[in-house]
Amino acid sequence: MNKTLTIALSKGRLADQAIELLERAGYNCEAAKEKTRKLILEDPQTGMRFIMAKPADVPTYVEYGAADIGVVGKDTLLEEGRQLYEVIDLGFGACRMCVCGPNELKGRLDSIANKRIGTKYPRIAREYFEIKKRESVEIIKLNGSVELAPLIGLADIIVDIVESGRTLEENGLTVLETIAPISARMVVNRVSMKMKADSINPLIQAVKRQLQEG
Ligand code: PRP
Repeated sequence: MNKTLTIALSKGRLADQAIELLERAGYNCEAAKEKTRKLILEDPQTGMRFIMAKPADVPTYVEYGAADIGVVGKDTLLEEGRQLYEVIDLGFGACRMCVCGPNELKGRLDSIANKRIGTKYPRIAREYFEIKKRESVEIIKLNGSVELAPLIGLADIIVDIVESGRTLEENGLTVLETIAPISARMVVNRVSMKMKADSINPLIQAVKRQLQEG
């Protein structure tokens, strides 16, 4: 049986922090640190294979078993809704998923009926407003610079990630409600968790220990 562990990383800052953490936990990640445009980085000696994926695709690779393990933001997990095990909150990439809008809406969000919501996260926005708050809303899917939507009259409010709060502040917007805390998570394919338990469990334990000590 092939016991190579395939780890899907979210290209960008989360990948760098994941690699650093795995190294601190005692896993050699030299292959993943190669400055290259290769998308599969394999270390034949350790039997670890890293794939560099777009963040939104990491849960897909893990659900289908193309990767055994993934490191991805909770925002992406909530939005993608994939079948996988979320095993560790890695702590880094911390931010909040929020409902935001113009300062003058502070404390009076409920005054707008049939809200128009601009967001990169239509599923999260729909679950929050339609399922949790039982409110019917119009969701407008955007791909970035979401803060523009209420400024330009496309939407009343937005559902987006807030990290430092600077983007909101510099655009005259504010947090109206917090939906969920967000951070990077380690996820595992459900079959791999059983079939490769002898390599995945020690990795999970080593990473948990490192997080407790760190
Ligand atoms: C994210 C998010 C906010 C901003 C929040 O955007 O969508 O716009 O960061 O960060 P802050 O609270 O520290 O200002 P990102 O940089 O990913 O770019 P995007 O707007 O193109 O999605």
